[in-house]
Amino acid sequence: MRLVHTVAELRVVLAGPHRAGRLALVPTMGALHEGHARLIQLARAECDAVAATIFVNPAQFNDPADLAAYPRHEDRDAAIAAEAGVDVLFIPHVEEVYRTGHATAIEMEGAARGFEGDHRPGHFNGVALVCLKLFSMVQPQVAYFGQKDAQQVAVIRQMVRDLNLPLDIRVVPTVRDEHGLALSSRNVRLSADEMSRALAIPRSLRAAVAAHRRGDDPARAAREALIGLQVEYVAVTVFDGAPTLVVAARLGRTRLIDNVPLDHPDLAGLADRDAL
Ligand code: PAJ
Repeated sequence: MRLVHTVAELRVVLAGPHRAGRLALVPTMGALHEGHARLIQLARAECDAVAATIFVNPAQFNDPADLAAYPRHEDRDAAIAAEAGVDVLFIPHVEEVYRTGHATAIEMEGAARGFEGDHRPGHFNGVALVCLKLFSMVQPQVAYFGQKDAQQVAVIRQMVRDLNLPLDIRVVPTVRDEHGLALSSRNVRLSADEMSRALAIPRSLRAAVAAHRRGDDPARAAREALIGLQVEYVAVTVFDGAPTLVVAARLGRTRLIDNVPLDHPDLAGLADRDAL
């Protein structure tokens, strides 16, 4: 695996052996876990070369405390990326991505409205901007994103459509721990007590799928399973035609999000048997 920090180095490395065939991009903010590794492994299996990026993008954080507390473990991340099959790992400094005088913004509407878009103003504009920049720096044919951030997938797909970007988007099912909690870089901030209370979230997703199958209201079933948690939203919405139950809740100073496409709980990493 080659580790590069500048766009100039990236260009040189990508002009080498990785030029022919399909190049995959896996954008991340680091603090890599099994969920990120799954994206990389799928990219490895489906493409000829795999580039991954680690960049904690200030433009998508609306809370400075969240940005400051975001976990950073570059050496550990590089080892995980190499093990999962990355060929080129790009870890730029913030000045490399947002150069002095940067004055271009993207304003996402449509899929960016509601839910995360309402609770984190400007978040998806920052996500879209950095992804567009990473797409033009790396110039992949395919980019990999996790179902864990379902609204982010919808926003990226919208941008790809709207700007006619020559890029396929692949979505990877949510990876969960053995108790069902979706893996997230933010989980390390949970106390043992918060961790066990957080399990109400995957329980609420299963309850929603079961209600949906019975013909009952999924949002109501999920809300009941979340009693006692500080819930920001729990609702059914439609992402790219798929009815999806979305949840956001706070546990102490940690904010967790999760979701399940109601007709495809497998995409949420919830096997059929769990949903019944
Ligand atoms: P980050 O939170 O590091 O996530 C990087 C990618 O990993 C995203 O596509 C996310 O959906 C996916 N992912 C995270 N947890 C997952 C899990 N448990 N199972 C499956 N996939 C998972 O999302 C971002 O970074 C940023 O917004 C980014 C797209 C890199 C732009 O800055």
